[in-house]
Amino acid sequence: MRVEGRDIKIASDLLAHYDVHARRLPWRAPPGANATDPYRVWLSEVMLQQTTVAAVGPYFAKFTQRWPTVGDLAASEDADLMAAWAGLGYYARARNLLECARAVVRDHGGDFPDTEDGLRALPGVGTYTAAAVAAIAFGRRAVVVDANVERVVARLFAIETPLPAARPEIREAADRITPDARAGDFAQAMMDLGATICTARNPACGICPLREDCDAVLTADPAAYPVKAPKKVKPHRLGHAWWMERDDHVWLIRRPDKGLLGGMRALPSSDWSAAPDGTPPIAARWSAIAEPVVHVFTHFSLALSVHHAHVKDAPAGEGEWWPIARIEEAGLPTLFARAVAAVRKE
Ligand code: ADE
Repeated sequence: MRVEGRDIKIASDLLAHYDVHARRLPWRAPPGANATDPYRVWLSEVMLQQTTVAAVGPYFAKFTQRWPTVGDLAASEDADLMAAWAGLGYYARARNLLECARAVVRDHGGDFPDTEDGLRALPGVGTYTAAAVAAIAFGRRAVVVDANVERVVARLFAIETPLPAARPEIREAADRITPDARAGDFAQAMMDLGATICTARNPACGICPLREDCDAVLTADPAAYPVKAPKKVKPHRLGHAWWMERDDHVWLIRRPDKGLLGGMRALPSSDWSAAPDGTPPIAARWSAIAEPVVHVFTHFSLALSVHHAHVKDAPAGEGEWWPIARIEEAGLPTLFARAVAAVRKE
C-alpha cells in the first residue's frame, strides 16, 4: 500500500532516529554537520567495501596516521601501501586507491572533485563510491546503494524480484526516498539501520524507526527480503606453495600485478586448479604440512598444500630472502600468512 507522503516520511523518521543513534565512527562527522574531509570519506568508503566496520577501524587509523592527506598517500611507494593493506583483502582496492590518489594530485591539484560525475571519473571510483563521497563529504544529493541499503529498501517495499535482477528496482526506490537535504546523513543512517537493526538475519523490527513505513514487517518473514536467486556452488581448487628456507630467511616473491592477490608478497605457489602442477621450484628434501590450508575466496575455495625445505640456492626467477624473524612485516595476504603460520607450527 502506498500512502501519500510515505517517501518523505521514511526520510524524516530515519533522520530523526539517526540524530540520536548515529554510530560514532572515526571517519564520520556528527549528524547535521555540514561537511567532512573528502580524503577520509573516500578512504573509509574504499576500505568498507566488502569489509566490516570493526575490521576497517585499525586500518583506517593506521593509514590516516601514516598518510594524513591524499597528497601523502599519492607520494607513497606501491610496496609500502600494499603491505599496509595486507589482511584487508580484495587487493585490487589498494592498487586502485593509489592510482586514484595520484590522479587527484596530478589532475585536480590535490582536491577531490566535489560532484558525483567528477568523482566517478577518477580511476577505481565506481557508482557506489562516487555517490557516497558526493553525499557524505560534499552534501550533494546522491543515491547511495550498498548491500545494507539494498536490504533495507527491499524490505521497506517488499520487493519480490530476486537479486541481482532487483537492483534497478531497488535503486529507483532508493532514489524516491532520498531527501534533497542531508543526503549524506540519510545514506549513513540507512547503512546504520542495515548494520544494527535491519540485519540480514533476525532483524529487530520491534525497535525499528521505520516499522510504520515498512511493507515487509507485515509479511510472515521480513528476513526473506531481499529475495535471492538460488546460490551457485563455489568450485573447489587445489594448490601448492613452497617455503624455501636458508640461513633464517625464507624466499618470497611478488605476485603479478594482474590477478588474484596481485602485487602482494607471497610464497611461490603453483596454479590453483582442479589438478595443479606440484613440481617444486627447486630440488630439495621436501616435506608437506599435515593439513592443507583451506581458504575461501569470493569465487572459489582453495586447499593449499604447503611444502617446506632447507635449500642451498635461490630458485630461478625474481624474489627476495626475507628474515623469518620479521615475517609479520612482509605484508603477506591472509592466505599466505596462514600458510606461514602452519609451517612454523610444524
Ligand atoms: N559502510 C560503508 N560506508 C559506511 C559508512 N559511511 N558508515 C557506516 N558503514 C558504512
